[in-house]
Amino acid sequence: MLKGSFELIGDKSISHRAIMLSSISKGKNKISNFLMGEDCLSTINCFRKMDVDIEIDNNEVYVTGKGLRGLKPANNMENLLLDVGNSGTTIRLMMGILSGQNFKTTIIGDESIGRRPMKRVTDPLRQMGAIITGKDDANLTPITIEGGNLTHIDYNMPVSSAQVKSALILASLYGDDTSFIHEKSKSRNHTEIMLKSFGADIQVNNLDIKVNPVEELFNRDIYVPGDISSAAFIIVGALICENSEVLIKNVGLNDTRVGIIEVIKKMNGNIEIIDEHEICGEKVGDVLVSYSPNLVGTTIDKDLIPKLIDEIPIIAVLATRAEGDTIIKDAAELKVKESNRIKSVVDNLNLIGAKAIELEDGMIIKGKSKIQGGKIQTFNDHRIAMAFSIADLISSEKVILDSHKCIDISFPGYFNLLNKLSNY
Ligand code: S3P
Repeated sequence: MLKGSFELIGDKSISHRAIMLSSISKGKNKISNFLMGEDCLSTINCFRKMDVDIEIDNNEVYVTGKGLRGLKPANNMENLLLDVGNSGTTIRLMMGILSGQNFKTTIIGDESIGRRPMKRVTDPLRQMGAIITGKDDANLTPITIEGGNLTHIDYNMPVSSAQVKSALILASLYGDDTSFIHEKSKSRNHTEIMLKSFGADIQVNNLDIKVNPVEELFNRDIYVPGDISSAAFIIVGALICENSEVLIKNVGLNDTRVGIIEVIKKMNGNIEIIDEHEICGEKVGDVLVSYSPNLVGTTIDKDLIPKLIDEIPIIAVLATRAEGDTIIKDAAELKVKESNRIKSVVDNLNLIGAKAIELEDGMIIKGKSKIQGGKIQTFNDHRIAMAFSIADLISSEKVILDSHKCIDISFPGYFNLLNKLSNY
């Protein structure tokens, strides 16, 4: 049983963007409720290496921006090496910014980053004039970027990805004329929202984005709402454990992120949003969730996928408690996340006694299967680790994770919180 209420930690996507935009703004910025997860700390370290003064004080971060063209290798370092660790958001968004800087940088990351495709960012940035080299024609790290003198772009995105979209929007700030970016389906729009508030000239018309180059971005203070992708684990825990009731305060409820709430409602889950309001252009509210004994399976596909792409591992765990099958399609992107999340979810579900089938672009989860337990492989993927820690709450024997260190990537303090809610 999970019971209690708590204030949610800051959103990972918004925390990254807050550091990046503050760093290239002109002046002082204060970021509140910043997520002190390893991924966001990687972003801070990269920008510190580009001479940005960044101070951390508990959950607040103070950034003195260098201006749009003021980044430089700190201490006149030659061969500037930036290590993004495990963070796909850091590398892809930063590639957009680095394409506008007139110095040379090499980006490296951990073993998982070394397997993730960067060609989706490299190709359009090369079209804009950035010189990008690296392994497998700069698809894989290490990747070296020499920026400056960018042109503009009119680009139809072949994949739905907020990281690619954001990289191109950021590079467009440095272009020689107006750029146009066309999305395939709507992905998270935090970059667009935050950039506007920094004074950028950006217009969005559904899937079409128009960006004009600017001289400078203003400085400003940013409040980071809670991370719905982190809340998702506790939400599902409360839906599947008898007698649970949890109030999660301060959840970011941006329309491009609330796919999981739509799905839970479709599945007959008890979930309610209270006190919805707006902070810094982002919707925020409290989420009240309780045990839901009458869950039903559903189909998740098409335009819904980008709105819940990071929540699929935990939705798969939820689906084992539903009556009937849950089908997840159009989600081939899962294969190129921190791990191949189609395989890591399906194999681990079957290992602990549930029944799941791997599809080319998703999975089918059989409902009402009995979770036995067993030792699962996380592949050092934070969301796999947390999803299966929730499966442990309903299994007859323990679900043991091969490692849980990776959870610090996005949710420091996760087990403390889970224990607190379990021992209420
Ligand atoms: C993110 C976008 C998503 C998501 C990732 C964070 C972002 O990736 O999976 O965890 O902050 O822009 P894609 O845009 O590649 O789908």
